[in-house]
Amino acid sequence: MARSLRDWLAHSPLPHLESRLLWQQVLGVSRTWLITHDADLPDAGQAAAYQALEARRLAGEPIAYILGYREFWGRNFHVSPAVLIPRPDTELLVECGLQAIAGLPSPQVLDLGTGSGIVAISMALDRPDARVRATDCSLAALAVAEMNARALGAKLLFSHGNWYDSQLGSEQYDLIVSNPPYIDSQDTHLVQGDLRFEPQGALTDGADGLSDLHRIAQGAAAYLRSGGVLCVEHGWDQAAAVRALFQSSGFSDVASLRDLAGIERVTWGRLPA
Ligand SMILES: C[S@@+](CC[C@H](N)C(=O)[O-])C[C@H]1O[C@@H](n2cnc3c(N)ncnc32)[C@H](O)[C@@H]1O
Repeated sequence: MARSLRDWLAHSPLPHLESRLLWQQVLGVSRTWLITHDADLPDAGQAAAYQALEARRLAGEPIAYILGYREFWGRNFHVSPAVLIPRPDTELLVECGLQAIAGLPSPQVLDLGTGSGIVAISMALDRPDARVRATDCSLAALAVAEMNARALGAKLLFSHGNWYDSQLGSEQYDLIVSNPPYIDSQDTHLVQGDLRFEPQGALTDGADGLSDLHRIAQGAAAYLRSGGVLCVEHGWDQAAAVRALFQSSGFSDVASLRDLAGIERVTWGRLPA
């Protein structure tokens, strides 16, 4: 017997929100449309398409990869399994970066490990006078970032390579931002939940979680102007270690910022002028 959208939603083994998002995806409609048409009967093709998406979600695939997008800093970004799924925590990195360049005209910004491009693109759109370069060692990730920049109308420069070894030339930056892989390779969360589906090279440095943060802090002085700022995201228990890395790399005014859960999530420091 044909079932209405309301019945499909009521009987899905998925949480209501996820089931609704999958139906919106299948039908190409808004939340309001779905609510106002919940007595409609999907046809057999639509029901089969929904069931295929539902089966993927029930097998554990992250909803963002199934939908193909995730909202960040008020905009939708395309995501694929080539990139980390944007996390709300990373908005603190954008906030920190924007604050660091607040008084500077036409600042030069470098985003190391851009993934889907969320940090670089959000900053470029909020500061259209900034010149923002985004790098990644993954060509597949850079392709996603370029697609997002085009779709959202952000003008960025892109470089492929290993951290500072990305043909950066002799350019000097006012700000370097980075959300590098910082999960310890022995952390069992890497083989659980959504993380199983995300690129391992975006999650872990293959070591203790601090090795990429170390490289980024140590190499920054060669690419920052005097008075320039480095701002990084890190794990919930890494703030003290990252502050020490910044201090031993020549930064002053080193401080960590807390996320909405009260966890020290971002650390920044300034090169002496
Ligand atoms: C934690 S993800 C962050 C992605 C994005 N900035 C975000 O916040 O969602 C880390 C990114 O760093 C990139 N990455 C890992 N190792 C790298 C390296 N050695 N050089 C450059 N990028 C690297 C990964 O490909 C990945 O896109």
